[in-house]
Amino acid sequence: MHKVFRSVMVLLEWLLFIAASVIGIANGAVNQYAWERISRINQEGPYLGIVVPNSFEMSPLLQSSSFVPNNKFPYIDFAGRRFRIGRVEDKRVIVVMTGLSMVNAGITTELLLNLFKIKGILHIGIAGNANPELQIGDVTIPQYWAHLGLWNWQRFGDGPNDELALESNGDYTRKIGYLKFSDYNNNTRDDNLLNNVWFQPEEVFPIDGYPEIRQHAFWIPVNDPYFSLAMKLEGMELGGCVNSTCLPRTPKVIRVERGVSANVFVDNAAYRKFLHSNFNVTTIDMESAAVALVCLQQRTPFLTIRALSDLAGGGSSISNEAATFAPLAASNAVEVLLKFISLLNLEIQQICEKLLNLHSFFNLIIIFC
Ligand SMILES: *[C@@H]1O[C@H](CO)[C@@H](O)[C@H](O)[C@H]1NC(C)=O
Ligand SMILES: *[C@@H]1O[C@H](CO)[C@@H](O)[C@H](O)[C@H]1NC(C)=O
Ligand SMILES: *[C@@H]1O[C@H](CO)[C@@H](O)[C@H](O)[C@H]1NC(C)=O
Repeated sequence: MHKVFRSVMVLLEWLLFIAASVIGIANGAVNQYAWERISRINQEGPYLGIVVPNSFEMSPLLQSSSFVPNNKFPYIDFAGRRFRIGRVEDKRVIVVMTGLSMVNAGITTELLLNLFKIKGILHIGIAGNANPELQIGDVTIPQYWAHLGLWNWQRFGDGPNDELALESNGDYTRKIGYLKFSDYNNNTRDDNLLNNVWFQPEEVFPIDGYPEIRQHAFWIPVNDPYFSLAMKLEGMELGGCVNSTCLPRTPKVIRVERGVSANVFVDNAAYRKFLHSNFNVTTIDMESAAVALVCLQQRTPFLTIRALSDLAGGGSSISNEAATFAPLAASNAVEVLLKFISLLNLEIQQICEKLLNLHSFFNLIIIFC
């Protein structure tokens, strides 16, 4: 009887929600009924936010038996995004798909952090590989992320010793290093009209800073405890075959120094080489640095897990490998994510156990355990 009553209540809630949406009952920008549902979801928080670029990268997670949707509020649709509420490895999560590239990743991460009570963000997906020591299928966990899409494109004829436009205002800098196109000329060493690009740090406005007083950020570190914990993932066994074709060696999980993102699909051997030799970059993608920038400004811990699907232009001269290996990479990234979340539980338990052994002074903290 109780079960029937609950089902009726859930049904009524849904009907009310649909009615409210149709009639357009709104209180400011956020529909009042949506707000109420979000508040109730937040009462059960905080959650781990799982941010994924595209549906083929998300579906191995949603299809995994480790993901259990919340039976009352399986999802909330808001601002063109679907926030899926549930549990992974018995830990409360909200999973959201961003769509391709930096603006989508930034908007979605910001919405997730502003609407919901989130204690940390885990970002997963596939990536290009700039590191000759790694292979397709490997899963990378970079320690630093940078957005490489903010450029000051220098006028023709100017070089490393010439000030950039608006540099003296403090808007732009020559500290980070530059890409000189003619360094990559073949045969002729004539300069070319593209000249130089100087990468620029992002302006950031952290929640604990002063509004409108900018700070700058280029290499954004992931969360230290998450990165340390990720060491325990190294040695995991991962899939290495697509149908009956297997990679030369079994893929591995590896923490690397650096990853970069921009609104650019890199399929270019020379640029790949430049990124690796100038910045020690391994992982190249189109979203992680946007997630990193939002998390930096919101002071939210984050980690990125990116599986290598291709060589970013450094491999076969015929075609990019992602067409073949993207599904394998996507499923490897999810495997590593699930393992990480299970370790996260364990780690918290271990910390709690340690605290329990300590003085009762820590009683307050222990409540959280
Ligand atoms: C330079 O050009 C020649 C002739 O087109 C080509 O064979 C060679 O592979 C090129 N070298 C590089 C590094 O691209
Ligand atoms: C480059 O990064 C790798 C890991 O990605 C690290 O082992 C190596 O020490 C780094 N090299 C330098 C020169 O920092
Ligand atoms: C693997 O097999 C599936 C199903 O037969 C097929 O759709 C897919 O194209 C194959 N992938 C490759 C890389 O051959």
